[in-house]
Amino acid sequence: MTSTHSPTPNPTEVTHAVRAVIDAQFTWDYERSRDALVRLYEKAKTSQWNVSTDLDWSIDVDPERVADELGGGTTARFHALAEIDGSPVRHFGDKEWLQVGVEMQSSLLSQFLHGEQGALLTTARIVETVPWIDAKYYAATQVMDEARHVEVFARYLDEKLTSQYRINDNLRSLLDDILADSRWDITYLGMQIMVEGLALAAFGMMHTVTTEPLLKKILRYVMSDEARHVAFGVLSLQEYYRELSDAELRERQEFAFDAASRLKQRFIQAEVWERMGVDPEAIRRTLEQYRPPEQQMFQTLLFSKIVPNCKKLGLLDAAGGWLRERFTELGVIEFEDFTDTGAEYEMLDEVARDRAAAG
Ligand SMILES: [Fe+2]
Ligand SMILES: [Fe+2]
Repeated sequence: MTSTHSPTPNPTEVTHAVRAVIDAQFTWDYERSRDALVRLYEKAKTSQWNVSTDLDWSIDVDPERVADELGGGTTARFHALAEIDGSPVRHFGDKEWLQVGVEMQSSLLSQFLHGEQGALLTTARIVETVPWIDAKYYAATQVMDEARHVEVFARYLDEKLTSQYRINDNLRSLLDDILADSRWDITYLGMQIMVEGLALAAFGMMHTVTTEPLLKKILRYVMSDEARHVAFGVLSLQEYYRELSDAELRERQEFAFDAASRLKQRFIQAEVWERMGVDPEAIRRTLEQYRPPEQQMFQTLLFSKIVPNCKKLGLLDAAGGWLRERFTELGVIEFEDFTDTGAEYEMLDEVARDRAAAG
C-alpha cells in the first residue's frame, strides 16, 4: 500500500498533524451485550496505577550500567560487526561500544514513548468511531492507560537517561497511516493487534533482561495494561471479521503485513548509528552480511503475539491463506499457536497482585 506519511520531520518540529475524515458514531443501544468486553472493562477500572505514587522515582539509574547489563541484548552482540570487511565500525573500541549500548537504550525507550502517544491518539479515535457501547466504555479506560504510559516513559527518559530520540520514520509512517484511515477496524488492527502486540513482546523481553529496578517495575505495570489492550483488539475484531467478505479480509491481511514489515525495519535503529557518526547505509550493508544471532532471535520473537492474534481473527487463512504465506516467508509462522492473548491479561495483571500483597 502507499504511505500517506510526510517525510523525515524537521528536527525543530513541535507538533505534527494527521488529517482524517471519520464518522463519529453515537449508538442508542446501551444494552451491555458483549460479556467479554464487560469483564475487560471491569478489570480495567480496578487495575489503574499511578505514575506519581506507585513507583519509586528516588532510585538512581546509571545509564552505562544499564547498557552494559543489556550487553547481551545490545553491545556485545554487535562486536563481531567490527570484523566484517568494509564495516564502518572497525575502529570502535570499548568506549564506543558502551556508548552504542547507552544510545540504543535511549532510542528504544524513545520509540516506546512515541508509540505510546500513537496509542493515546488512536484509542481516543476508537471511542468515537466504534459502534458498540461496551467497546466505547472499554476504549475510554485505555485512553487513560495510554496517558499514563506516555507520562511514565517521558519522565523516565527525562530524569534517568541522558539522551532522547525523535520518532523513527517507519514507526511514524505506520502511525500516520493508522490515523489517516477512516475504517474503525483498521485503527484496531494497526494499533491493538500490530503495534501493541509487538510492544507487549518487546516489553516482555526487556523486562526479562534488565535488573534496573525502576525500569523493571515500569515495564511490569505497562505490560499489565498492554495485555488488556491486545485482548480488546482480539475480542472486538474477532466478532467483526466474521462478517467480512474474502475481498475485505484480503485488504486487512495486506494492511497487517505492511505494518509488520515496517515494524521490523524499525529495529535496525539507523538513528543510533547516525548519532555515533556511522553512515546508516554502510551499517545496513554490514548487517546484511552478518546479523548477530541474538538480534535475529529478538526480531523473530517480536512477532510472537502478532501471529497468533492474526490467526484468532481468521486473517492467516482467509483469502486463500495469503497472510500465512507472507508470515512463512518472514520466518515467523511458527508462532501461530504460541499464546492466547485474549485471556492472558489475567495472568499478566501485576498491579492486582501487588495490591493484594499490600493488603
Ligand atoms: Fe500503552
Ligand atoms: Fe496500549
